[in-house]
Amino acid sequence: MDLGQLVLSASFVVVTGATAGIGKAYAHELAKRGLNVVLISRSLEKLKQVAAEIEEQHGRSTRVIQMDFTEGSESYELIRDALQGLEIGILVNNVGMTILQPLCFLDLPDIDKYIPDLVNCNILSTLKMTQIILPQMVARKKGIIINMSSLLARRPIPLQQIYAASKVFIDVFSRALDGEYRSKGIIVQSVLPAFVDTNMTAKYAECGKIPADVFAHKALNTVGLTNRTSGTLKHSIQVSLVWVAR
Ligand SMILES: NC(=O)c1ccc[n+]([C@@H]2O[C@H](COP(=O)([O-])OP(=O)(O)OC[C@H]3O[C@@H](n4cnc5c(N)ncnc54)[C@H](OP(=O)(O)O)[C@@H]3O)[C@@H](O)[C@H]2O)c1
Repeated sequence: MDLGQLVLSASFVVVTGATAGIGKAYAHELAKRGLNVVLISRSLEKLKQVAAEIEEQHGRSTRVIQMDFTEGSESYELIRDALQGLEIGILVNNVGMTILQPLCFLDLPDIDKYIPDLVNCNILSTLKMTQIILPQMVARKKGIIINMSSLLARRPIPLQQIYAASKVFIDVFSRALDGEYRSKGIIVQSVLPAFVDTNMTAKYAECGKIPADVFAHKALNTVGLTNRTSGTLKHSIQVSLVWVAR
């Protein structure tokens, strides 16, 4: 699918959590496909480095916005201001966090901080970024929103309870939003990856991990074809195994 045909050729893409892993891979892949990129993450140094790589390797324009998505809704005015005047064709709501150890709810370390941090980073970020960017897409009757859910949203996952539930939220929100705005020219896609080789999964054994750049390339080829995807055939097979294991 030529994403340029789905949005405007001069459009910017906005990617949250863009300094590593899947977000960085989406940013590179979209720049390779001809789009300019706004990178949003918490470390300015890493943002500048990824922006320089994209400009050098793909010859596209970049902007960077430093933001810690564990913060509350009042922090989003900074993003709204920084995006003022930019024509945004694609929003990739990718940022997400989890703790790697499988733990029961009451055993989560520093739970008073962990709960709001995770809810803000995994859920609020998608809602607020959508609230900021969707109006201009609706006005142009064109746009794509890609929301990063997870394989763990497909069934209740003990020992990853809050993270998995946050990804169910993203998946259900995305599909409902797609239902509301598809007739207005907006595509909303929910992506439910299995294991992608990133910092988040670094401590896990191999378990069929896919390189992030391969994942981004294949998953982006599904935009416009389906509103809910595992991203790749390998991950679709892993999903089928999860269903069989039920
Ligand atoms: N990897 C997988 O197998 C997998 C599977 C299913 C779903 N997912 C989902 O895919 C998305 C990306 O995951 P990933 O594996 O690529 O993760 P990752 O390698 O840990 O990268 C996360 C990105 O988000 C940024 N980030 C993290 N917390 C942030 C915060 N509080 N404020 C601002 N930026 C923050 C990180 O910045 P820094 O560079 O500063 O850390 C980094 O750029 C997440 O939503 C995750 O839940 C991943």
